[in-house]
Amino acid sequence: MRSLISIADLTNDEIEEIFSLADAAHRLRTERPANGQIMATLFYEPSTRTRLSFESAMQRLGGTVISCSDMRSSSAAKGETLADTAKVVSAYADVLVVRHNWDGAVQAMAEHADVPVINAGDGGHEHPTQTLCDLYTLRQEKGDLKGLTVVVCGDLKNGRTIHSLVFALARFGANVVTLAANGMELPQYVIERLEREYNYDLAPVASDDLNAVMTETDALYLTPKQPHQLALFTQVDQVIQARLNTMATGLRYDAFYMTRKQKERITDGAANGSYPTIGPEFLRERRFQDTVVMHPLPRVDELSPELDKDRRGIYFKQAAYGVPVRMALLKFLFDRREAKATAAKKKAVAYESPEKLGPQCRNPNCVTLKEPASTQKRFELFSVGEIGTLILGCAYCDHRFKVQFVGNVKSKRYCSYDDSLADTMRDWLNRDQLAIFDSIKEAEELGYEPVKSGPQRTLMGEVEIASALAEMSRQILRDCRDPDRLLILGVRSVGSQLAQRIAAEIEGQRKRKVELGEIEIYGAGDELKRLSPTDPDAAPLSLKDREVILVDDVIHTGRTVKSALSIIFRSGRPQSVRLAVLIDRGHREVPVKPNYVGKNIPSSEKDRVRVKLRVLDQEERDQVVIFSVISPAHGTKPSSAGAKKRAAR
Ligand code: NCD
Repeated sequence: MRSLISIADLTNDEIEEIFSLADAAHRLRTERPANGQIMATLFYEPSTRTRLSFESAMQRLGGTVISCSDMRSSSAAKGETLADTAKVVSAYADVLVVRHNWDGAVQAMAEHADVPVINAGDGGHEHPTQTLCDLYTLRQEKGDLKGLTVVVCGDLKNGRTIHSLVFALARFGANVVTLAANGMELPQYVIERLEREYNYDLAPVASDDLNAVMTETDALYLTPKQPHQLALFTQVDQVIQARLNTMATGLRYDAFYMTRKQKERITDGAANGSYPTIGPEFLRERRFQDTVVMHPLPRVDELSPELDKDRRGIYFKQAAYGVPVRMALLKFLFDRREAKATAAKKKAVAYESPEKLGPQCRNPNCVTLKEPASTQKRFELFSVGEIGTLILGCAYCDHRFKVQFVGNVKSKRYCSYDDSLADTMRDWLNRDQLAIFDSIKEAEELGYEPVKSGPQRTLMGEVEIASALAEMSRQILRDCRDPDRLLILGVRSVGSQLAQRIAAEIEGQRKRKVELGEIEIYGAGDELKRLSPTDPDAAPLSLKDREVILVDDVIHTGRTVKSALSIIFRSGRPQSVRLAVLIDRGHREVPVKPNYVGKNIPSSEKDRVRVKLRVLDQEERDQVVIFSVISPAHGTKPSSAGAKKRAAR
């Protein structure tokens, strides 16, 4: 039995097969392959196109449709779980088509249904059947998808159609330019997956090139060809600017994919800035003369009505393809009722918590938080060994977050995770002994004790840390072209503490406030946050034309810095980005060179170097320490002198 939850559930060949079926939809109309079959449409959110085109498709295939006119008047209103609804309706229908406002809700229902389930949009997560329509439209208009350049515009953060579409475009080898409204950039988990699974690289595009659509926001160019290593440069000024200029001139835009602001999913009020629109100016630009304009609809005011009459406005055609494409998809799924999924998704390591307390998804709109009873504690585990940092991806909504604490089920020991434990973690995972916790409290409630660590040596004391930060601050100020443009951006959480101290030093030296921000690499969404001033109404942090100083505690593999740089470039074009780290360990996997270093510590890979700060670690004084972990799998070796403190935090 095959369901369609994510666009990754279909291989490229299968997508082509669906398109061939859609090309011959008239034949399906006479063959009536769904004769005697029933489709149930369960829509917990408004819909016109998706629902009606599914219902029309089913009827044209000879089948019939049942549905609730409004799911708010279904048993959901009485508190029925998704799991129960899925089970019950499976007995009434041969296929379920579900739209829900929670991310991952359709996956949860599919796990409990006895018939195929199709995702017609789950929260801000995915909308795979819209993507099938989008790709089909592009293919009809432009032929081969490979090598096309598609500009995705608008609310890239909350737009589920965008998320499914960019993965699909990447799989077919298209280039993607993202032109987001301010504060609505493509989520980091999406970018990261593009980088990791599809070898995509991202680079900024000069905004002049897209002036006809929008002047305020910068665009990013995502390409599979990998000639641009821009995200790895810490100096944007000359090198990158030069490349930007050449890149912008060479680009040919095949399609604009516009989306509306998803106001029902915006909770933080941040999204009030300008929004890209396609107006009459666009139609007159020579460079856009062969650029088609698409939109999943409904539109609000992103598209000028003039475009409706222009050959390039193809969104009504795109909506009309909804019927043949969905007929093809239904036929495809009915033919595979006995089959197992052959997902196109690269297999990640699956992780299920062996303990009853364990990690929780950080996405507040995820079904695992909204209705845990219908879900399991399932994740994908990334990067063991290869990147160092250990990342959990929610199996329902795909959001990613960093592993904080790890434990061993047998020894009942836990510690905070850091890169030097990567090999040990792989070993624990292979033996099914890996427990992951969000907090010390969780671990201790389950009876875990801190892992014992080997002798700990202090590398830097309080005074040395303070003078290193003061010296770095002096250098930063000396190199700064315009102190009013300075933005000190710390990587959460130790990096942002250090950033605060650097900012305080600079303020002391200059007698003026400097702006301070925090960057969260694997968080729930809002990656960039202002730390000062703390005015709740302050506009989102703007990076445009700023001299950014990125601050982190220890630079080890360089991956964290690379991710931070990609967030920075995606969020606006700074004038420059320089990197300040307290400790440089020199085990670089990516070519990142810090501009300011407190101390170089060429330690062995296995040693753990930690910056412990009074404020975060309840230490007596700030210090940088080095130690190794003794047999974390067993935890039976005698405790050594330095280990009496909690190794974990
Ligand atoms: C989209 C959706 O519901 O995600 N609409 C659709 O299915 N055609 C886009 C939107 O609502 O903006």
